[in-house]
Amino acid sequence: MATEEDASPPETCDGPGAGPEYEMSDRARRIVEEQGRSLREEGMLPSKVFNDDGIFEAELRQIFGRHWVFVGHESEIPEPGDYAQRRIGRDPFIFVRGEDGEVRVLFDSCSHHGSKLCRAEQGNTSHFRCPYHGWTFKNTGDLAGVPLKHQAFKGLDPEEWGLHEAPRVTNYKGMVFACLREDAPDFEEYLGDFAWYLDIQLEIGKGGMEVVGEPKRWIADSDWKSGADNFAADSYHTGVTHRSALDVGFGAEEISGTAGQETHRHVTHVDAGSTSLRLLHPDDEIYYGYPNEFVDTSSLSEDQRRMAAACGAETGTIFPNLSFIHVAATDDPDDDLAGYLAFRQWQPLEAGKMQAWSWILAPADASDEYKQRAHDVGMATFAGPSGNFEQDDMAVWDGVSEAAGSVYAERHEFKLNYQMGRPGMSEAEIDEDWYGPGLGWDDNLEEGTLRTFHGNWNKAMSGEEVGMSYPEDHI
Ligand code: FES
Ligand SMILES: [Fe+2]
Repeated sequence: MATEEDASPPETCDGPGAGPEYEMSDRARRIVEEQGRSLREEGMLPSKVFNDDGIFEAELRQIFGRHWVFVGHESEIPEPGDYAQRRIGRDPFIFVRGEDGEVRVLFDSCSHHGSKLCRAEQGNTSHFRCPYHGWTFKNTGDLAGVPLKHQAFKGLDPEEWGLHEAPRVTNYKGMVFACLREDAPDFEEYLGDFAWYLDIQLEIGKGGMEVVGEPKRWIADSDWKSGADNFAADSYHTGVTHRSALDVGFGAEEISGTAGQETHRHVTHVDAGSTSLRLLHPDDEIYYGYPNEFVDTSSLSEDQRRMAAACGAETGTIFPNLSFIHVAATDDPDDDLAGYLAFRQWQPLEAGKMQAWSWILAPADASDEYKQRAHDVGMATFAGPSGNFEQDDMAVWDGVSEAAGSVYAERHEFKLNYQMGRPGMSEAEIDEDWYGPGLGWDDNLEEGTLRTFHGNWNKAMSGEEVGMSYPEDHI
């Protein structure tokens, strides 16, 4: 399969497959430098980062073009020929299981004149036929047919003209990630100690976790970072933004993250990830609200099991744009709470505008009835645009990007307050007995998780690897 046509990269490459080094505009560079300085020294963020064309163009290259990005879960494409359209940044890719059973991430551009091949969002096919001149590719990406080949392309070697693949692809316990930079660190190194938390999400369900239904998608006039930073996690907003949903009983009050409750923990700067979890009753077996017959803790360590047993709600973000929420909620205030996991991807569309994708997952060995309920509860709460909680967030994040794009914000270098939890600012304290990786806090009045996300953003925009070292980078 043809992948690299240029034998010798130009001198400006910073590694194989990295492509020409990206020259950020001076203005964007100044914003990045100011973001790093003000975040570290003052706990503040220049509002421009949430809506600026130069910053957005740089993000596509420095962040989405250089770091590991979620593509999909293998349970979405269980059969040979199953495929779905996906995006890495704004770039189009086909997530496909080939006839040989292998999962691939193919660049969705015909090797002839470049037309996009995939028009349906998802489906099953043995071949992709280009709508332009009819070149046809197997679901493995190999070129299978060229119209009028013997008259038009006598000398063409089909082996050189297959579809291109994402240079780095990994399957992490069913989650497929891709990276457009060949010399990036391996995914597991990138994920680092956050694996301890992610593994709980993926392994707590009996039979593993399985995607239920198609991912839901909606466009929002919000910057992709607003979603990532909120899930990273801002439980401070829950009791205000989501007050109406809590008042009518769509979520337990315990998930609202009210101030200073001893059972709350914030966990920060664990390599590429941040998470906030709500630990309820340590002696109960909560497991995110799953019926115990659908829970399997056999692959977890005792500390992981202990955390999951006490956990009623958790949100997190893996840099750059994959978030998750694992929660017990309900679609009927008279019915029991039901647990579900949702992956959320904040797809960058343009400065201050994104498309949100939401996958709902349930334990693979749960009953069909439970999976359907998990799906319905997800849709009614956090995992769909009409969810009682989700629509609340959309109604506030767009205001962030609107103001960030203003002349006032630019002229007055308007800055946002991300100071909560900095020394002397709140009563939150590091829990020295926290048994998971990273820092644990004794309540949720702490925005280290958000500062961690924006600290990683600064590193990525500056061309560095992401990942926070403990405790030097805690800011
Ligand atoms: S662009 Fe695909 S066949 Fe010509
Ligand atoms: Fe929210």
